[in-house]
Amino acid sequence: MVGKIEEYKPGKLIEGAIKLSSNENPLGPSPEVVKAIVKSLEAGDLKLSVYPWEGHEEALRAEIARYVGFRIGNIVIGAGIDGVLDTLVKIFVGNGDEALIPIPTFSLYESLVTIAGGTPRYIPRKKEGNFTIPVDDLIAACNDRTRMIFLGSPNNPTGNCIPEAEVRQLAESVPAVMVVLDEAYVEFADSSLVKLVNEYENVVVLRTFSKAFGLAGLRVGYAVIPEWLISTYKKVAIPFSVNSVALQAAITALSDKDHLRRSIELVKSGRSFLVDNLQGLSKVYPSKANFVLVDVSPRKSSEVCDTLEKKGITVRDCSSFRGAGDSFIRISVGTQEENEKVVEALKRVLSAKRF
Ligand SMILES: Cc1ncc(COP(=O)(O)O)c(C=O)c1O
Repeated sequence: MVGKIEEYKPGKLIEGAIKLSSNENPLGPSPEVVKAIVKSLEAGDLKLSVYPWEGHEEALRAEIARYVGFRIGNIVIGAGIDGVLDTLVKIFVGNGDEALIPIPTFSLYESLVTIAGGTPRYIPRKKEGNFTIPVDDLIAACNDRTRMIFLGSPNNPTGNCIPEAEVRQLAESVPAVMVVLDEAYVEFADSSLVKLVNEYENVVVLRTFSKAFGLAGLRVGYAVIPEWLISTYKKVAIPFSVNSVALQAAITALSDKDHLRRSIELVKSGRSFLVDNLQGLSKVYPSKANFVLVDVSPRKSSEVCDTLEKKGITVRDCSSFRGAGDSFIRISVGTQEENEKVVEALKRVLSAKRF
């Protein structure tokens, strides 16, 4: 079964280049986080030789509960959304099971399902409708082996959200299937559907500290899940998967509301700048996330990415996303200076006769 999966392809990191390939926070983490970690390490309060303390884990779950407006009994944490997904797929998918994945989307869903012995079933999003999900096709594709449906909202790499009415329709039509709403980018969107966890026993919502909170390097994510699932989750999850530094960093990050607000404002204004300035050159899809999807056809995404790379800018070639074709690039929103540079470089690349 491992033969069937592709290696995960992260956004490129090239020393000295402007990195707009992995949807990270251009402001970095809150300075308060860095100060708190250094201070606790120096004071010996944060002991690297000791396993993470469950009191700190509880404290983080309590702060997350406050942030999302839920009870602590609905919150679980993991090593990024990646870690949380790993646990959830272990719980729900076994040999012969199926999972539905509207594509193009984040590739880890299909890898985890395949590793668990399941079969991913791919449902193409409607390209002409800005990659909306054909919900009726999704419901029609469910059978008695279907265990999970994965919905990125905002979705990577398309940037669009799934409407609330459609998630409700799904949750109600297939109550035996877990509907996984991946809200990794939700802070950059206008609203969240986390409240649906209160209403449906088959909806879970995934969130992360990697994007708006600027802590991708520390690997902390969480899920808001129905109470019935908590004990199973805790049994299946790898113990201590969120390390002590990450626990403290995430707690401090939640307390620095100013940094969060600045990060969101920077992304929203940078996103408008990218859309406004690239729209005339090629099709740019509307985005609720911290990146924009650009169709560079008739050029190939790989050629455009290579040319940008030579100019010192890395963006994401989306040809590795199943069902995306070979003409899409994804540009993460950077600082204003980085956004201006990528726009200038792309203008030159896309208006050149040959490159
Ligand atoms: C939709 C989506 N979900 C999850 C992740 C991974 O998040 P984390 O860093 O929390 O593992 C990404 C990362 O790019 C993503 O795009």
